[in-house]
Amino acid sequence: MTATDPRSPLLPTPPGTAYTDPAVFAREQARVFEAVWVCAARAGDLPRPGAFRTVPVGRESVLLTRDRADRVRAFLNVCRHRGARLCTEEAGEVRRAFRCPYHAWTYGLDGRLVAAPNLGELPAAERDRRGLAAVHVREWLGYVWVCLADDPPSFDETVRGAVADALGSADAVAAYGVDRLEPGRREVYDVRANWKLIVENFMECYHCATIHPELTGVLPEFAEGRAAQADGGRGAAFGADVDGFTVDGGSGFGRLGGVGEDRDRRYYAVTLPPQVFLNLVPDHVIVHRLLPLAPDRTRVECDWLYDPEVLASGADVARSAELFDRVNRQDFAACERCQPAMASRVYRDGGVLVPLEHHIAGFHRWLADRMADAPAGG
Ligand code: FES
Ligand SMILES: [Fe+2]
Repeated sequence: MTATDPRSPLLPTPPGTAYTDPAVFAREQARVFEAVWVCAARAGDLPRPGAFRTVPVGRESVLLTRDRADRVRAFLNVCRHRGARLCTEEAGEVRRAFRCPYHAWTYGLDGRLVAAPNLGELPAAERDRRGLAAVHVREWLGYVWVCLADDPPSFDETVRGAVADALGSADAVAAYGVDRLEPGRREVYDVRANWKLIVENFMECYHCATIHPELTGVLPEFAEGRAAQADGGRGAAFGADVDGFTVDGGSGFGRLGGVGEDRDRRYYAVTLPPQVFLNLVPDHVIVHRLLPLAPDRTRVECDWLYDPEVLASGADVARSAELFDRVNRQDFAACERCQPAMASRVYRDGGVLVPLEHHIAGFHRWLADRMADAPAGG
């Protein structure tokens, strides 16, 4: 019986080359990551005018900053003179302008070209045209989201709406007040695996019993392999003897302000393709952001967000954050175990999804639809 046999409970995955081929990766960067809204940075990482971050989005580097009016701005990180990378640091702060290290063209925090040595007579129209190339930017859930498309898809439909649909209601995420939470811990993981392996892994729980002893200790139903996100925002219940979402099931912190009884003692997970995972528990929120760097390499930035009052009280979040840090390391090790085998001849036609994984085919369809769209910028 093969995966294509109609009597088989198995569905096919994409072929191995989808996870290894540089040409596939380049098309994904162009048609997906440069065409949709991408969650680029925590807004609080740009605490004041002149603070900046550089983030790889698709094949571009995006420069995020805050202007004099405290508005978040996003630009392509490319000098308009002869193309030097304007900022090479991942994060930093300038006083009032970005000065290119090559010939000293200087740009205001709003991206306008404000000075170019020996070019005092540059016509105003020419000067206006040579400002930094702006990128569409939005703030939501305390994060900065950018879109490189000239004509971005609706943020409300493709981001807010998709999260609301996954959780079963638009109010569900609002209850956690994510935008007022603050990071109690942040980890950046350099994962030697294709970004799709990480998405697929996050969507299923077939592996939970095998590799996640601490997580199944807190969420016993995960040991049966049913993913919390497989059926419309059901959430997974804490075990009867579990006090909190911590590495040993010991107590965590008080419920976040808007979280009601119905969502108490439950874990909710949302995969927002292509690159955001939201994890909601009563006392904190964990946000993963994937930044694909190569066919076999993905940077994953993970924030553990807590009530600012909990953090200000000096409470120790170590046991709380430790749970998902272990889960992350277990998951990423599994993805890294699969990556080299994607190039094996036996995986040329791909692998299979068991019924507990069938919802992953929805992600594959979503991706196939984006890949079939007209090329966005390349
Ligand atoms: S390349 Fe930036 S000033 Fe010349
Ligand atoms: Fe996992």
